[in-house]
Amino acid sequence: AYFATHNPFLKGKKVLVTAGPTREKLDPVRFFSNRSTGKMGYAIAEAAARFGAEVTLISGPTELEAPANVEIVRIESAQEMYEAVMERFPHVDIVIKAAAVADYRPKHVFAKKMKKQPGDYVIEMERTTDILKTLGEQKTSQILVGFAAETDHVEEYAKQKLESKQLDMVVANNISEEGAGFAGDTNIVTIFKRDGSVRSLPLLPKKQVAEEILKEIHQYIEAIR
Ligand code: CTP
Ligand code: CA
Repeated sequence: AYFATHNPFLKGKKVLVTAGPTREKLDPVRFFSNRSTGKMGYAIAEAAARFGAEVTLISGPTELEAPANVEIVRIESAQEMYEAVMERFPHVDIVIKAAAVADYRPKHVFAKKMKKQPGDYVIEMERTTDILKTLGEQKTSQILVGFAAETDHVEEYAKQKLESKQLDMVVANNISEEGAGFAGDTNIVTIFKRDGSVRSLPLLPKKQVAEEILKEIHQYIEAIR
């Protein structure tokens, strides 16, 4: 088959992948984060390298080992991910943003551990920078692929993200479905492309989902050039 496991169809391509959660500090012992494990993004980075790409993986805190033949950059916060991505963006061909980036961070970060006080406590949060949206505004020839993890209105929200962030492709999953989402080794995704085409994949191991996403990107590049 043309797309054999080791067919180097991404040879010569520089691919930037982000994966995992971010951590937003409140004080030296506390942070806000989310349930992302990084598995989907790591599977994409691993497969892209296997398909011949030069891969950089910008990763939030995960328990996963760096994939073979991938340059890994470890960060914690959304701001650190933003800086790591922006620095490399001008030099890459494809960006795949699988990371679950925090939308908010504590407005005040305390240098010393907070002591509890009687009564309730309100933490004020401020917005982080939308990394992918910024890339959409600044892109020259890069292919931009985003993720959309939703619990409802999956198609509607995925299409909105495709438009508002000026993406080439959105990989949407319904994280409330059995076999999809953060924790497991499988996922159920639908791929929405800029040209209006839609492809729904069945429940598959994340490794296979990663391969299908990369094949879709390859076909998309072939079709537009
Ligand atoms: N994303 C990003 N920077 C952020 C937030 C999200 O780059 N500060 C990226 C994610 O990596 C993902 C895509 O945007 O590829 C969609 O993330 P998602 O959380 O599903 O969408 P949001 O635009 O944040 O909207 P909402 O959380 O309200 O659904
Ligand atoms: Ca979000």
